[in-house]
Amino acid sequence: MIIAALAATMTASAQLHISTPTTSLLLNAEPGERFEYMYYGAALADTDIPAVAESEKHVDAYPVYGMDTFNAYTLAATHADGSMATDMRVDKVSESTDKDGSKVTRVSLKDTLYPFYIDVCYRTWPACDVIETWTEIRHNENKAVTLTEFPSAYLPVRRGNVWLSHIDGAWGNEGHLTHEPLTPGIKTIRNIDGARNSQNAHSEIMLSLDGKPQERTGRTIGAVLCYSGNYDISINTDASAWHRLTAGIDAHNSAYRLAKGETFLTPAVALTYSERGTSGVSRNIHRWGRDHRLQHADRERPVLLNSWEGIYFDVNEPVVNKMMTDIADMGGELFVLDDGWFGTKYPRNGDKWGLGDWEIDRAKLPNGITDLLKSAEEKGLKFGIWIEPEMANLYSELYEKHPDWIIQAPGRDPVFGRGGTQLILDLGNPAVQEHVFKVFDRLMTEYPAIGYIKWDANMPIKNHGSHYQKADAQSRLYIDYHHGFEKVCKRIREKYPDVMVQACASGGGRANWGILPYFDEFWVSDNTDPLQRIYMQWGTSYFFPAITQAAHISASPCHATHRATPIKYRVDVAMSGRLGIELQPSQMTEAERTFCKDAIATYKAVRPTIQMGDQYRLHSPYDGDGVAALMYVDEPRDHAVFFWYKTEDFHNHHYPRVTMDGLDPDKKYKITELNRIDKTPLSCEGKVYTGAWLMANGLELPYRHIVDTPMMSDYSSRVLRIDAINN
Ligand code: DGJ
Repeated sequence: MIIAALAATMTASAQLHISTPTTSLLLNAEPGERFEYMYYGAALADTDIPAVAESEKHVDAYPVYGMDTFNAYTLAATHADGSMATDMRVDKVSESTDKDGSKVTRVSLKDTLYPFYIDVCYRTWPACDVIETWTEIRHNENKAVTLTEFPSAYLPVRRGNVWLSHIDGAWGNEGHLTHEPLTPGIKTIRNIDGARNSQNAHSEIMLSLDGKPQERTGRTIGAVLCYSGNYDISINTDASAWHRLTAGIDAHNSAYRLAKGETFLTPAVALTYSERGTSGVSRNIHRWGRDHRLQHADRERPVLLNSWEGIYFDVNEPVVNKMMTDIADMGGELFVLDDGWFGTKYPRNGDKWGLGDWEIDRAKLPNGITDLLKSAEEKGLKFGIWIEPEMANLYSELYEKHPDWIIQAPGRDPVFGRGGTQLILDLGNPAVQEHVFKVFDRLMTEYPAIGYIKWDANMPIKNHGSHYQKADAQSRLYIDYHHGFEKVCKRIREKYPDVMVQACASGGGRANWGILPYFDEFWVSDNTDPLQRIYMQWGTSYFFPAITQAAHISASPCHATHRATPIKYRVDVAMSGRLGIELQPSQMTEAERTFCKDAIATYKAVRPTIQMGDQYRLHSPYDGDGVAALMYVDEPRDHAVFFWYKTEDFHNHHYPRVTMDGLDPDKKYKITELNRIDKTPLSCEGKVYTGAWLMANGLELPYRHIVDTPMMSDYSSRVLRIDAINN
């Protein structure tokens, strides 16, 4: 791949060409003039640049509120003298190289009347065709300036048959994918949870420029807001020639008083463009995330057993020890002790008690964690533990000591969350930041052998009020919460660079690229039903690679949906992400246990391809054809793993045959079925095909398993290993 030496080029006429190998962003940044946008899409040839610049419409690249902004604006501010009008002109353009080697182009804008400044910044990541953009706002006015709107990014998209893809959902139904055409009016995707931001909606979108989104074809733009808090992503389809995209922190109830000399930094939005459909955009984002944001992206994730669905709050030493023995026997590499292990005055026997009191409950674990750690080590396992450090319960010693640490409307009663007693701490308060850091730090200092922390967050910010903030700064609550959260995460990572940390928030409430620089993965959902997981993991994969998606084999019937499914189906679905187990192994049948043991060994063999490879989504479950299929291909295109799931069962129905993608057309590949249960092998078993054949025709897959009658079911799934051979 040719990597452009310069991220941005500036022509004599002030055209600013910010580019990656296959994409171009063309702007006009003439000093003293308005900052203008001309084009974003496929890479421009040198010849095209002047022609495009002259012939395409010029629109504001970062319009502001107050002067000539009847149809579009991004930033809005009330200046020190009370004026609500802002009017920016280009001051200068500069380029720098960051410590990580990335090139940053900074377009500095200055107000025509006030000492008020906005830098619109662009960072290019050539190898994944991503351009990150954000703003930095500051002023030298004689009093504070109040920012009332402050998106990170603005992108005009030429009006047409443009479709929006986004992820919505709910608890137990995270990652649900929606595609819809953009029609006149403003479409807004907004999160107001306060603490978590991906349960009901996601801060990432795609725009398909050629009509209904296709997985493999079509010009598609991806935009990813890297933030852990409330957001607003809006697309305004007005009377003009544009769909106007703005993305950033949700400013409602969050007016930000910016002091003289202070800089307000908005979170980055990563933009990418692909002509290979939604799947193409996902691959760019996955690669960008793995290469530049995800914690420990170069480390394979261990196969784990998490205790929650197995024992819930019923933690006790012999049971935990037995679970560790069982997962070790099955070839697992990590045991995670979930909720229920702590609290002395208020033991955590349910969700009403103990949050905040992170001492071991000696009634449940008389020998503490030290013994569990020893026992894990003897079994060759790493040990992990659950915390929810941002929270307290009404029934906790923490709340008794620090009632002023909770978020609470002034003069009013607290509003409770989970269990009717949960409270959320005000992370904007430095004392709370210290406490949250210390929860992590104390555990890791006392038990340095802990290898994994599951960090949960089961409550939104339900009422508005900070005991810490002054009366005129109450509107900083949401933003300061997340600045505080990030500060704590940074501090933890400086001191504990090695420990793995999972982001969990009532299931999938914290799947976002704002936190993943500090976390290794996230829990996709508390719903572990494999059929619904196919849809959830599919939607989630629009913006997050397999390595980030914790996917666990659970009991049948599933505790969330009560649907019964065969072990193979449960295993095959979990294997397409970061494989784990979430059940009580002592309740497994011998056959299930043997199947899981073999599957774990198999997963370990193909894990590098699944966790580090490129993902090709082949056939969407959302298409309603009764089939879903995807595959992972490693970078040299020597190894691939193909997953096929039947999502609806109709007798003697002709399910679509799925063609493959991402292989080298000229290489020869041998097919091996993994996790096989059929009495007879597939007709393609052991056969060798060219990549060209597999990508043009795929393979014939029977829609039922050939098994003895008691094992017959309406579920069916296939996992194929595809390996290049030398001759
Ligand atoms: C919610 C999480 O999503 C679950 O996995 C589990 O950790 C529980 N919290 C524990 O209370």
